[in-house]
Amino acid sequence: MTTQMKSSNTVWHHATVTRDRRAELSKHKSVVLWFTGLSGAGKSTIAHAVEEQLHQKGYHTFVLDGDNVRHGLCGDLGFSDADRMENIRRVGEVAKLFIEAGVIVLTAFISPFRADRDKARQLIQEDFVEIYCDCSLEVCEERDVKGLYRKARAGEIKHFTGISSPYEIPENPELSINTGGKTIEECAAEVLAYLVKRGVYQEK
Ligand SMILES: Nc1ncnc2c1ncn2[C@@H]1O[C@H](COP(=O)(O)OP(=O)(O)OP(=O)(O)O)[C@@H](O)[C@H]1O
Ligand SMILES: [Mg+2]
Repeated sequence: MTTQMKSSNTVWHHATVTRDRRAELSKHKSVVLWFTGLSGAGKSTIAHAVEEQLHQKGYHTFVLDGDNVRHGLCGDLGFSDADRMENIRRVGEVAKLFIEAGVIVLTAFISPFRADRDKARQLIQEDFVEIYCDCSLEVCEERDVKGLYRKARAGEIKHFTGISSPYEIPENPELSINTGGKTIEECAAEVLAYLVKRGVYQEK
């Protein structure tokens, strides 16, 4: 496993520019908004809508999106259970670094397995906010944004979440949003209200 430390001579170098100092400068705290849900549930759409509004407020944000990290950071990984697990592990580690950098991180991965999400939670601890994008398979399949459900039904894609690979619904997410029944604006507003309630930033 790549989790193993390869060098016993590695030490952590403490920075003088701390997370608290970054938060003071930027006027907001850092946190990971971990969007999870079926393909087409709206993870990317909501993550980017929330990011847009935070950016307009002058805050530091970054979206880690499934498709994008698979080009580079996780370009060597496929969609087997083991590769999905490693994909999520790497994303968790990157998100943790972004947290130290004082950024509001939004991740948009199906992340179908509870155990993997829980590992990311363990790594990121109290800064991990699990957001379940609650949308039925029927609605996601009807949307079929990328045409992937059609291909999965035709047997052209193996291990497709919801069709030939399971999606484990979060048991205790910090936030659950009804992306199947509400508008994009309503869903984004729920996330922003949660951030204020949590004290990530203060409404001006
Ligand atoms: N309330 C809503 N929230 C999010 N998306 C919505 C909502 N209502 C309609 N949509 C539409 O649903 C689609 C969601 O697609 P999106 O690419 O965001 O899904 P995703 O969860 O990121 O899927 P994938 O895992 O394949 O990347 C978009 O076309 C969006 O316009
Ligand atoms: Mg997406």
